[in-house]
Amino acid sequence: MRRSAEPDHPGNQQAPPWWHRAVFYQVYVRSFADASGDGVGDLDGIRSRLGYLELLGVDGLWLTPFYASPMADHGYDVADPRAVDPLFGDLDAFDRLVADAHARGIKITVDVVPNHVSDRHRWFQEALAAGPGSAERARFFFRDGRGDGPPNNWTSVFGGPAWTRVPDGQWYLHLFAPEQPDLNWDNSEVRADLVTTLRFWLDRGVDGFRIDVAHGMAKPAGLPDMPEYLRVVHGAHGHGPDDPRFDNDEVHEVHRLIRKVTDEYPGSMAVGEIWVQTDDRFARYVRPDELHLGFNFALVGADFDADAVRRAIDLSLAAVSRSPAPPTWTLSNHDVPRHVSRYGGGDVGARRARAMALVELALPGVVYLYNGEELGLPSVDLPDWALQDPIWERSGHTERGRDGARVPLPWEGSAPPFAFTEGESTWLPIPPEWAGLTVEAQLEDPESMLSLYRQALELRKTHPGFEGTGLEWYGAPPGCFAYRRKGGGLICALNTSGAPVPLPPGEILLSSGPIEGTDLPPETSVWLV
Ligand code: GLC
Repeated sequence: MRRSAEPDHPGNQQAPPWWHRAVFYQVYVRSFADASGDGVGDLDGIRSRLGYLELLGVDGLWLTPFYASPMADHGYDVADPRAVDPLFGDLDAFDRLVADAHARGIKITVDVVPNHVSDRHRWFQEALAAGPGSAERARFFFRDGRGDGPPNNWTSVFGGPAWTRVPDGQWYLHLFAPEQPDLNWDNSEVRADLVTTLRFWLDRGVDGFRIDVAHGMAKPAGLPDMPEYLRVVHGAHGHGPDDPRFDNDEVHEVHRLIRKVTDEYPGSMAVGEIWVQTDDRFARYVRPDELHLGFNFALVGADFDADAVRRAIDLSLAAVSRSPAPPTWTLSNHDVPRHVSRYGGGDVGARRARAMALVELALPGVVYLYNGEELGLPSVDLPDWALQDPIWERSGHTERGRDGARVPLPWEGSAPPFAFTEGESTWLPIPPEWAGLTVEAQLEDPESMLSLYRQALELRKTHPGFEGTGLEWYGAPPGCFAYRRKGGGLICALNTSGAPVPLPPGEILLSSGPIEGTDLPPETSVWLV
C-alpha cells in the first residue's frame, strides 16, 4: 500500500501521513538541556524545554541514543537498547517526556543502532567467554587472522584497523570503534532482537525511528579485502560501490523487517542514515516496502554556491522521484561541522546560513534541523584537552573529530553555562562569546536567527504557497537561482553572486536579510508569492 499521499495528484483521497512535510528537530541529548546538574543533557532537560520547541514550531523530535551505554561513542555504543542510561534518566523520565511532548502536539522519534552494539553488551561479553566456534560468537564477526594479521584489510570509519584481537587469538570486526563490535545480520537472534526493541519503544508511544548507519549491517560473504585507495579515507561519508563494508544488497532485508514492524503501528515511521554515492543506490532504501524516509546529505556537501545548491536539490529530488518517499533536507547534524562554519564562519557564515535556512525551509518534503542551528551556533575550536570523540584518539590526534558541533546549547544569562545546567561545568566547554547567541537574547530580537526560523516555520506550516510536492526552476543571473513550488506557487530566490541582482516579481513574504528597493542583495535569499 502507498503510504504517502500526493497532494499534486487530484483524486488521491488518502490523508497524508503526519511526517510527509514535517520539520524534525534533532536533539543531541547530551547537549540540549541538563536537568540533573551533572553537565550532561538528559531526558528531563528536554522535557523542561518543550515549551521552547513548541514556540519554535517543530513537528517532531529525533532523540540521539539515550540507552544504557559506556559512552565510548557517546551512546552510539549501546549496551542495552531497551534501557535508559542513568546519565540521561530512566524509563519513567522517558514516558513523561513522550506524554508531555504529545500533549503539545510534538512527535517523538528515537535512534536505533542495528549495525553494532557496545562491547559491554551482554552478548559480546558472552561471546568473549564462550570462545571460538560458539553460538555466542556467531552473533558477531569473529574470525581467525591471516598469519599474525587481521582477517582482512578493512579500516574502521574512525581510523585504524576494523579488527581487534581477543586473548584467544581470534579477531572481531568493528566498522567503528573497537568498543562497537559489528553484529552478524545473518543470525536470527540478532534480527529477532531488533524487532523486540522496535516494539518495545513503539509500545511506549514513540512515533518513529532514525536508523543509524542504515547502509551498514549486511557484510559480503567471505569478507573480501577493500581496495587499497579507500583505506586512507576516514569518515562514514559517500561509500561507493567498491567499498565492501557498506551498502551490500542484503541490507534491504533488514529494512523490510523494520517496515513490517512499523506497519503494525499505523502512523509510525523510520528514516535511515544513508551515506551512499549514487541516487540509484539511495532510491533502493526507500522502496515501498522499506524505509519511509532516507536522509539525503546532498545539501551538507554543497558549498554556498547557487549552482552547487541547485545541483544538490535536483539530486535529492531525483533520488526519490520513483519512490513513495518525500525528499528530506539537512544542513547540519552531530557528525559534520555546523553550517555557519562551513560557509565561512563569523558574520559571513551567519548571513549565508540565514539564506540557506530559507532555501531549505521552502523545499517540498521533510526537513531535519539540528539543535542549535536555529541559534546560528558555529562549530567550536575546542582545546585538545576537551576533545572526547573517539576519532581524535583513533586517528592518532590527526583528526579533531565531531565535538566542535556538539557543544551544549546556550539558553540564558551572560556567562557559561548559560543555564544549560545548574551545575558548574558542562561536558564540553561553552564559549563565553555565545552570550549574544542565547535563546533568551534571540527571542527578544526580531532580527535574530531564532526569530527568522520561527517565522519561516510558521509560514511553512500555514501559508498555502508551500502546498504540493514539486518545484520548477526559473532562469536567474549567474550565481543565483529561483524556484517555484508547483502546487502553492511560493518562489524562493537565492543570491550567492557577490553583487545585487533584480528581485523576481512578487510580494515579499520573508527575507533572510534586509531588502531595500528592487534588488536582492548578495548572500541573501527571499520568499515571494
Ligand atoms: C552514525 C552516527 C554517528 C556514530 C556512528 C556509529 O554515523 O550518526 O554519530 O558515531 O553512526 O554508530
